[in-house]
Amino acid sequence: MRIFDLIEKKKHNIALTDGEIAYLVKGYMSGEIEDYQMSAFLMACWFHKLTRKETTALTLAMAHSGEMTNLHDVAGIKADKHSTGGVGDKITLILVPIMASLGIKMAKTSGRGLGYTGGTIDKLQSIDGLNVQLSQEAFIEALDKIGMVISSQSGNLAPADKKIYALRDVTALVDDRALIASSIMSKKLAAGADIIVLDVKCGSGAFMKDMHSAQHLARLLVDIGKDANRQTSAVITDMNVPLGRAVGNALEIKEAVSCLKGEMPQDIEQVVLALGTQILLMSQKAANEEEAVSMIREEIESLRAFDKFCAFVAHQNGDVAQVKDSTLLPRAAVERRIYAPKQGYICGYDCEMVGKAALAAGAGREKKEDDIDHGAGVYLEKVYGDKVDKDQWVATVYASGESKADQAAQLLQASLEISQKQPEKRMMIKEIIH
Ligand code: URA
Repeated sequence: MRIFDLIEKKKHNIALTDGEIAYLVKGYMSGEIEDYQMSAFLMACWFHKLTRKETTALTLAMAHSGEMTNLHDVAGIKADKHSTGGVGDKITLILVPIMASLGIKMAKTSGRGLGYTGGTIDKLQSIDGLNVQLSQEAFIEALDKIGMVISSQSGNLAPADKKIYALRDVTALVDDRALIASSIMSKKLAAGADIIVLDVKCGSGAFMKDMHSAQHLARLLVDIGKDANRQTSAVITDMNVPLGRAVGNALEIKEAVSCLKGEMPQDIEQVVLALGTQILLMSQKAANEEEAVSMIREEIESLRAFDKFCAFVAHQNGDVAQVKDSTLLPRAAVERRIYAPKQGYICGYDCEMVGKAALAAGAGREKKEDDIDHGAGVYLEKVYGDKVDKDQWVATVYASGESKADQAAQLLQASLEISQKQPEKRMMIKEIIH
């Protein structure tokens, strides 16, 4: 087999066999195939889209390029959740303990934030001491003992995806949906869960800006899961306005904890119920949607889900006192308030701009090596649909310093949209794909 022939084949839109794709990934990892050859191949895949069979073969080859986590020794059904990334997305922090307290083993690998969308690992690191870099043994032990674990991806989880993603990043190839789907699913398959639920964000603050692309990506993700014998379902959710009120690491931990104590904004509740229902149906813990919803509500009302979150924090060496008393969480040095420029209804906050405001405040990193301020971010006092008077306080910036606060406040102010007409009720769940 020669890489030259495989590039030639794809260039002429002839599908590759599973064996050819396996050779391509193996050869790239061993150094036999050069970056420029892999780039040429991937560019051919951009013009002549990978077939479903090719996409699954690429996903499996990337998943098997490193360690495949073996969760067979952990009793019970193992589930994982993934979001394609949004602004203020703290769903993992709420959903995972709820599912774990219902007896589903939640094995969650997460990433750091980059750019204007946050990452669960950064949020969790707002809690002193919390260890999010577990070895595979510690990951399995935590899953077995606590019923949930959240840890960053080890370097040896789908390393071929890491190498290929870095190449796509510098060759304008991040936007191909089959490549995105195989990248996401290679890590999920390697992480070992039996059930995978995907939150595909759609809207101005998401990777997928319109329904057509979100539906296509969701379908690809679910098909790969099915072809790889994992129960998979995808929920397409709205990402035109930030999720909940908080954007920024410690601020989001605080909001997630209030949700676990029963104070859940409607937009967050809709997403938690929809994703949780999918997991409970796939695991056959619930017979129908109604039963699933009441099971989830009961775990929150009884505070069992909150207790599970505390047990997880304690087991991973975090300071539980900060979870029980949010005033102990980090808080940025400077605060700036944003006021409504006119009377009316809040009909939105431009998601991307709010994400950038949080980033400017110090909550995120533009480059991988940047430090972050865990206390920085944005808090929306008034949200979509709320009525406001002129000069009423609508949002707050928490920043690391005066100039960061100025910059963030300018962006947050510009993101605010006020209309004279009350906007329609926000429907968070756009479609569920099984
Ligand atoms: N997230 C991933 O993991 N991979 C992609 O290709 C895009 C987003």
